[in-house]
Amino acid sequence: MTIKTIGVIGAGTMGNGIAQVFAQSGFDVRLVDIAQPMLDRAKAAIEKSLGKFVEKGKLTAADRDAALGRLRTTTALDHLVDADYVVEAIVEDVETKRTLFTSLDALVKPEAILASNTSSISITTLGAATKRPDKVLGMHFMNPVPLMTLVEMIRGQATSTESMAIASDLCKRLGKTPVEAADYPGFIANRILMPMINEAIYAVMEGVGTPEAIDSVMKLGMNHPMGPLTLADFIGLDVCLAILNVLHDGLGDPKYRPCPLLRRMVAAGHLGRKSGRGFHAY
Ligand SMILES: NC(=O)c1ccc[n+]([C@@H]2O[C@H](COP(=O)([O-])OP(=O)(O)OC[C@H]3O[C@@H](n4cnc5c(N)ncnc54)[C@H](O)[C@@H]3O)[C@@H](O)[C@H]2O)c1
Repeated sequence: MTIKTIGVIGAGTMGNGIAQVFAQSGFDVRLVDIAQPMLDRAKAAIEKSLGKFVEKGKLTAADRDAALGRLRTTTALDHLVDADYVVEAIVEDVETKRTLFTSLDALVKPEAILASNTSSISITTLGAATKRPDKVLGMHFMNPVPLMTLVEMIRGQATSTESMAIASDLCKRLGKTPVEAADYPGFIANRILMPMINEAIYAVMEGVGTPEAIDSVMKLGMNHPMGPLTLADFIGLDVCLAILNVLHDGLGDPKYRPCPLLRRMVAAGHLGRKSGRGFHAY
């Protein structure tokens, strides 16, 4: 199967990075969002990111222009009708994603693979919303997508070996390293990362340390490149809360219970970097 045209749905933090790496690697990309302002922001973010690669001498100006030329943005889902491969990166909400997968299944050609960038939601559940569960899989990119090499690949209960092989191959064409995980809540990455972030938030709530102190301890003492609260701000506090809810519901263990301070910050619209305010100010 020749993969030429990629659909990316959701132009937020992750979708714009995913669209960028596919366009940089020579694919025609259609980036779809329900909100035109998100598409405008994504386009600007991609131009800025590609510009930085040019400044650092890692990309030529001609290759930047070619990548931008391969990228189209749209609010119309039916522009994906000829897509060979689709990556969904919309909000971390199971019902919203299931509805989208059902619409996509009815729209795109039968042989196209439908991948989700979900951080935690069951791939098997998303596959069951389609008539092609063998072609539904998880392709979990890391943030920021243009810089991070890992892609966690999730095999749903019904995902075929052939689909996993095609998707892993695609990852390598993007210069990324695929690592396979089974379809359990949070997979590998967030099953391990989110309890640490949640515990750091409990430590703020209980006055164990300030956000600055907690981040400094984990950076200087544990050699983490960024502290857990800076990382939470970077991911988006709404996204962290959604993932913790999936872990808590799916695994039933109280150790995954989202910290009340996280709930309060999300309710206040303090979502981290994307809203200008989280555990730190931006
Ligand atoms: N933020 C991270 O660090 C990170 C890392 C890995 C994976 N993820 C996952 O990636 C996905 C997207 O996360 P994000 O942080 O980019 O979210 P975000 O809030 O930045 O962006 C979500 C985008 O989806 C759009 N959208 C919502 N419903 C839509 C629909 N029905 N059709 C089209 N567009 C729609 C919104 O307008 C918004 O632009 C989530 O599943 C999240 O769990 C996030």
